[in-house]
Amino acid sequence: MTRQSKYDFDIVINRRNTDSIKWNVAENVLPMWVADMDFQTAPEILDALKSRLDHGVFGYADVPDEWYNAYIDWWNRRHHLKMEKENLIFSAGVMPSIFSVIKRLAAPGAHIVIQSPVYNNFYNCIVNSGCNVVENQLVYKNGEYSIDFADLEQKLSDSQTNLLILCNPHNPIGKIWSTEDLARIGELAKKHNVTVVSDEIHCDITEPGTHYVPFAAASETCREVSITCIAPTKTFNLAGLHTSAVYVANASLRRKVRYALYTDKVAAPNSFATVAAIAAFEHGEPWLESLRKYLWENRKLVEEFLAKELPEIKAVKGDATYLVWLDVSALPETGRNIAAHLKRKTGLFVIGGDAYGSGGEHFLRMNVACPRSVCLEGLSRLKQGIAELLQL
Ligand SMILES: Cc1ncc(COP(=O)(O)O)c(C=O)c1O
Repeated sequence: MTRQSKYDFDIVINRRNTDSIKWNVAENVLPMWVADMDFQTAPEILDALKSRLDHGVFGYADVPDEWYNAYIDWWNRRHHLKMEKENLIFSAGVMPSIFSVIKRLAAPGAHIVIQSPVYNNFYNCIVNSGCNVVENQLVYKNGEYSIDFADLEQKLSDSQTNLLILCNPHNPIGKIWSTEDLARIGELAKKHNVTVVSDEIHCDITEPGTHYVPFAAASETCREVSITCIAPTKTFNLAGLHTSAVYVANASLRRKVRYALYTDKVAAPNSFATVAAIAAFEHGEPWLESLRKYLWENRKLVEEFLAKELPEIKAVKGDATYLVWLDVSALPETGRNIAAHLKRKTGLFVIGGDAYGSGGEHFLRMNVACPRSVCLEGLSRLKQGIAELLQL
């Protein structure tokens, strides 16, 4: 594995005692759970932040034109979606946006469709808004995932359903949805008068050579029925800076979303939020290209390790995210029990797939956005833990 890069992702940075949610764990624990990366962000972003810090005045911040232009250029150039300034709204985060949109667009008691197994916070947002989770469980067959469109249509056609939250690309299964799948979802949403909230936070972490399709770019219908949440936070490891955007092409929908974000007070940036996003999209591309290569080498490492050392566990082939979805259905315990056992016996902290809802019961999610040496340590603990499990 040779890399020609001026960025060094092999450096191990001690994140303990930095108030990191991921690393606020006991000394023997190796955290490979929460979806953030153990790498420093791009030096180009650090420089921009340092220069903002040096100014020393941190009054209320506005959203500058450069912020809109940075998003518009990036999505146009890299993802072939033409966005317009008036259709973009700043938001402090994807989950704050989704929560706010649910509260504004869905009355308590409404049904909201999600495609399980899926990001666990979708469940929390829906339940905490007094709405009902309706799962359109993904089909898992021969190691691949697909959408059960008949089931989806049945759930969207329920008169109590008014939102579908799509995860594009999908966490935790790591799948990029095809244009055909997205367009089909858009048609069903239109037919049944359902708004699609497309969470595209993982969109830039894709296998080198591949690209995701923005939901709003899949068809004119998709554009009209959707609210899209995008951010530089997964891509450039900036989650703690609370910076994202919402794109809504449909004017009447946008009016509601803008109202929701403003009244929930999530549409105002902190002093670093727009600075980081602008630097990321304007100058972060070379860093991102190196990162994607590195992450895919880690994924490959996991796949090869499992094939050789732990054939009982299969890594589901993923083309997006740095989250590896491990099929543990050949083992005698559920993912949840295996995760608990691994943490107890080896300190390896991965998540049992049932956290992501129906269909996740026999999986583990492992975050491989870490230096290679850390990834290898995680795999070695996995092997040791499974060997002990099988002896019981
Ligand atoms: C699919 C998905 N959406 C949203 C988030 C969180 O977004 P934010 O930190 O902007 O609220 C995550 C974090 O893991 C995620 O995986």
